[in-house]
This record gives sequence, C-alpha cells and structure tokens, in this order.
Amino acid sequence: MQRFRIAVLRGDGIGPEIVGETLRVLKKVEDLFGVSFEFEEGLIGGVAIDKTGDPLPEETLELCKRSDAILLGAVGGPKWDDLPTDRKPEKGLLRIRKDLDLYANLRPAKVWDPLIDASPLKPEVVRGTDMIVVRELTGDLYYGEPRGVFEENGKRVGVNTMMYTEDEIRRVVRKAFEIAKKRRKKLTSVDKANVLEVSGLWREIVEEESKNYPEVEVEHLYVDNCAMQMVRRPSSFDVIVTGNMFGDILSDEAGVIVGSLGMLPSASMGDRYALYEPVHGSAPDIAGKGIANPIATILSASMMLRFSFGLAEASDLIEKAVERTLEEGWRTPDIRSEGCKEVGTKEITDRIIENMERLRHEKV
Ligand code: IPM
Ligand code: MG
Repeated sequence: MQRFRIAVLRGDGIGPEIVGETLRVLKKVEDLFGVSFEFEEGLIGGVAIDKTGDPLPEETLELCKRSDAILLGAVGGPKWDDLPTDRKPEKGLLRIRKDLDLYANLRPAKVWDPLIDASPLKPEVVRGTDMIVVRELTGDLYYGEPRGVFEENGKRVGVNTMMYTEDEIRRVVRKAFEIAKKRRKKLTSVDKANVLEVSGLWREIVEEESKNYPEVEVEHLYVDNCAMQMVRRPSSFDVIVTGNMFGDILSDEAGVIVGSLGMLPSASMGDRYALYEPVHGSAPDIAGKGIANPIATILSASMMLRFSFGLAEASDLIEKAVERTLEEGWRTPDIRSEGCKEVGTKEITDRIIENMERLRHEKV
C-alpha cells in the first residue's frame, strides 16, 4: 500500500476547523483509493508563539522536513497584532517559505459555473476564466536587504530592497513554462520594466527561457496594466508568472474576480518540499463559529494529491465532488446566493464526502 506522511499545521483562527474537515476528506481518499496517510501535527503562527514563544519552532520545521508534504491552515489574529513585525505569526509563514526554499507559489483561480454570480464582474466577462498565478515566494521586497527604519539627519527613513538574482528568476520562470506547456500554452510575465532594473533582468530571463519552450506563447505586461487587463479580459489569461510582491497583489485580485477567496487553494513548491494552504487568511471574526468555508483547504489538499503524491484520479474526484456539491446548491455563508441551501463548515464537507463516494461508484 502507498503510504504518505503529511505534516499538519492548523495555525490560528479558522485554521483548525478547515484543516480538521480537510483531514476527513483525506480519510475518505484512503477508503476509496486504498492509500494510507499518516498525519502528524505541528505548531505554527500565534498558537506557536503562545506555547513556545516562536512562530515557527524548530520542532515544526523538523517535522516538515521529514514529511512528504505539508498541509497548513492559516496564521495570525488580533491577539498578536501589536507584536513587532519580526515576531508576528506571519513571520512563521515567511520563515517556513524561506527555510524550505518554497520558491514557486501556484495559485489557480477559476470560475466555478455554479458560482458565476458571486463574481463582482458581469457573467459574460468572467465566464470561462481559468488562470494560475505562479508567484515567486522566497525573494523580492519580502526578503531583500537592507531593510528597516533608520535615522538619517535626524529624520526616519523606511527601507526595503527589491532584489532578485538571475538564478532565482530562472527557476520560477522555468516552473511557469512547464505548467503553461501542460495547459493552454500561454504565459504572461508581469513586471515593471519601464521603471525598475530588477524587472528589466526579469524580462531578459523570461526571453532567454522562452527559447526552450517555443510552443508557449509569451506576453509581457507591466503590473499596472496587468491589474487592469485582469478585470477587463480575465478569461484570456492562462499562466501568469511574477515576483513575490506583484504576485501577492495580483493573486488577491484573481481571487475576487472568480468569486470568493474562500474557494482558492495554493501550493508552494521547491525542489524538495511542498506546502499546501488556502490563499485566504485566518478570519478571526468567524473563528469557532462553524461557518468557515473549508473548500479552499480541501482543494489545496487535492493539489497535494496531484503534485506531491501523483494521485491525479483522487484529486480529480475531490474537484468533481466540490463542483457537484455547489451544483446541488449547498453553500457556506461567504458564497451564499438566492435560493441556496446554506450550511456550515462540517455540513458542506459531509456533502462533499458523500459526493466523492457517489461519483466514485458512478465511474466504475
Ligand atoms: C499571502 C499573504 C502573506 C503574504 C502574508 C500573510 C504574509 O498575504 O500568502 O498572500 O504576503 O505573502
Ligand atoms: Mg496575500
């Protein structure tokens, strides 16, 4: 029997609930596909600060390194907002990305037909949208040195540094080309090459690499223009590749275009490790109420099955079960619409699990 070890980092806010439900979906995969998952829990974020004083304890990092994949909920909350940047729960997230060298962050955003009315854009504009943002995750303004607030001539100056090495750009760009090759073969590279030297280098590397992928059509867009084109013609995008900062911003935009941040999964991959987490945050305002939407986390686990374990069939089954559940009208409050059947975190997961069972048997 195939066995996989999964590090489970529930984190803060709604993290524990949505991860808990996702584990039930994975247990159903065990039943239906005869594979076995071993779940081992670790601390990250605010809970880790409370228990150990460190948002990413060494023990958690070790656990991640000996696992086949990592499933993460969300981190952060008002309780820790007043801590200095360097000791906030978010720092745990930034450190795990860097320490495990998870340089490529894949954020797919597609419109689910039953949710087309949840998009703020007109249905005819958004219909058919299916894009994936490949965001560089271990460099750029997020990590560049020098950084800090310094004093110069008696006045404070805030400094961050936008910086990329050629190799850092090349490896994420290659990943994006590989993904584009297996999809609709269109790559949009996003930069600010009319102003920034870093972006000039980025563009050069994309051009160099494009010679190795002649079948992929390449488009370069400045980030401001891209933000605009995404709302004007979202369905024309296939794969978008960009740096850490621009990718952070554009992936939130992609999320709102397709309807709900509560539906968006992500995978953060390096050459050795991979971490799967929803794009949304810890939503402290609804934590513990049993109403959070678990679908983004469930779909993140589905990406894990596909990319880390090679279980494409199980991954497809989860996605189809989610789609069927939405078609049947089941909704958590964040995606509620007229005439829908509104349910909570656990109930919508029950429906998804039932549909996995049903669809699996329909197939054979
Ligand atoms: C994200 C988040 C994080 C980021 C924050 C929480 C540090 O916005 O994953 O997109 O900026 O990368
Ligand atoms: Mg973000």
